[in-house]
Amino acid sequence: MSALKIPGHDAPAPGEVALDEIRAVMGDCLRCELGQTRTNIVFGVGNPHARVMFIGEGPGRNEDLQGEPFVGAAGHKLDELLSVAGLTRDEVYIANVVKCRPPGNRNPKPGEIEACSPFLREQVRSVWPDMIVTLGNFASQWLLKTERGVTKLRGALYQVGHFVVCPTFHPAACIYHADWLPLLREDLAMAGAWLRVNPEASDEGVKDGS
Ligand code: URA
Repeated sequence: MSALKIPGHDAPAPGEVALDEIRAVMGDCLRCELGQTRTNIVFGVGNPHARVMFIGEGPGRNEDLQGEPFVGAAGHKLDELLSVAGLTRDEVYIANVVKCRPPGNRNPKPGEIEACSPFLREQVRSVWPDMIVTLGNFASQWLLKTERGVTKLRGALYQVGHFVVCPTFHPAACIYHADWLPLLREDLAMAGAWLRVNPEASDEGVKDGS
């Protein structure tokens, strides 16, 4: 995967590149076929210096129309889940693995994920959170660089370089698997507990996910 070239930054340090500089490089992106059918690029939203970043899969219909991740029903669900971790939306940063809506909400294809990855990587580097909560298979596998499914990964925290990663179910998946919702809540409660006992980033008490 090639590194994203950001004008004016040769080898940017964490937090050096502002999110709007990354968005500017993305431009009116047509790097994959999702660009042909989207209404808006859904880049990401929230606190640019958040301690916690959430990564979803990709925009749905409402997000595509409004240009913002997790709005409407999906947004309300996420807000409710954030509260389980003791978080509010203005404290966190939210992005997706792919930034344009897959038609009909199909799964993103490997080439689409590949095309979008440099932008997500730079967003993570810009925000430089302590913790990243990955919602669902695509985000969890992307960050943990694994093919294991989220049902196997969830329930634990993983240290990936600087970041503590909390892989968990995608809230939308819990519509079809109601028994996953209490597990998703458990994971977010665990994330919240970690944040409370670790005021700064720490390497202790987590699995090595590298
Ligand atoms: N589901 C996602 O994964 N991302 C969104 O932005 C909305 C729904």
